Amino acid sequence: MKVSAEILNLIPYKPGKPISETQREYGLKEVVKLASNENALGPSPKAIAAIQQYLAHQHRYPDPAAFHLVQKISEVWNVPATQIGLGNGSNEIIDLLIRIFCEPGDAILTSEAAFVAYAVCAQAARVKVRTAPLRKDLTMDLKAIADHFFHNPNAKIKIIFIPNPNNPTGTVVGGAELDEFLVRLGNRDDVLLVFDEAYTEFVRDPQFKEAAKFYQNYSNVLVLKTFSKVYGLAGFRLGALLAPEYVLEYYNRVRNPFNVNDLAQVAGAAALDDHDYIKASQKIVWKGLDYFYAELKRLGLPFYPSQANFVLFNTKRNVEKVHVNLLQKGIILRPVQNYGFKTLMRMTVGSADENKKAIIAIEKMLSEVEEI
Ligand SMILES: Cc1ncc(COP(=O)(O)O)c(C=O)c1O
Repeated sequence: MKVSAEILNLIPYKPGKPISETQREYGLKEVVKLASNENALGPSPKAIAAIQQYLAHQHRYPDPAAFHLVQKISEVWNVPATQIGLGNGSNEIIDLLIRIFCEPGDAILTSEAAFVAYAVCAQAARVKVRTAPLRKDLTMDLKAIADHFFHNPNAKIKIIFIPNPNNPTGTVVGGAELDEFLVRLGNRDDVLLVFDEAYTEFVRDPQFKEAAKFYQNYSNVLVLKTFSKVYGLAGFRLGALLAPEYVLEYYNRVRNPFNVNDLAQVAGAAALDDHDYIKASQKIVWKGLDYFYAELKRLGLPFYPSQANFVLFNTKRNVEKVHVNLLQKGIILRPVQNYGFKTLMRMTVGSADENKKAIIAIEKMLSEVEEI
């Protein structure tokens, strides 16, 4: 069977290396994984307690409308229930939005070094990927993105993706630059503006503006949220879409009716109510980031201040060699050559103990991998 050139050339999304695989390959007992921006606290205790009660119901199909979870999201995030969609992780929502709103030959637009899932999903749908340049400090240039849209009227750009904060850079857009972007592109009926807000709960930058708070003022602004980060439920695969009703109408037509399983629905609803856990998740990340900043400074490794639960730093070395060296020491980090960064490494904030182990390993690595 022949497949299209896009599928033939597709480079799939490469997730962080699993702990079990690293243990097997390197003969290690103890492995620290700071490679996938997961929550170091483990799942919310309220979520664990809730799913235990529902285990005995798993011979039933889940509620396709996820009524209770949608009501809970509506109440906690203060958005109308009619404007909430759910996905098997926000990754599925990215995939579906592209399939719904783009035809083969259309394009999506984002920034260089934006979260890679947009490009992977677009390519799989035979949709072109266009990017605007990133600034030197690795912040996204919203003016360049808007200019790109207006300077390429024949490019058939249907969706603009703005990850805010972005992964892997940890940077945010906000302030007057965002206002200007919305003045130029908001309320158009030929393009959707998708703000991917996977990490907003960790933002400390006062310039930041959350699209979840302003999307209702626009007919073409959509917001993606995930339960994989501050809510600690990455394994359950749960993401949310906040969008105008007409978008939800299409979204619910196309998605698989049981895309969000029963336990994910139950866990998500419970985690939304676990305020102590959310606060603890934020605290551990902010403390961990400040620790990483101080240690990276001490080691002479430049870094990009982050508004998310990870930090991108410059190893000043071939990052693949650094990656392997650290794996041998039982530390899994995430090299980001796939974004065009040959020496940069992304490190997720873990527990205090995991963070310390990672820094000890990095310090040792410095004398073992040659600087370039
Ligand atoms: C910016 C961004 N968006 C979306 C996702 C996907 O999250 P999910 O686990 O909900 O699919 C991630 C995951 O790392 C991310 O970094």
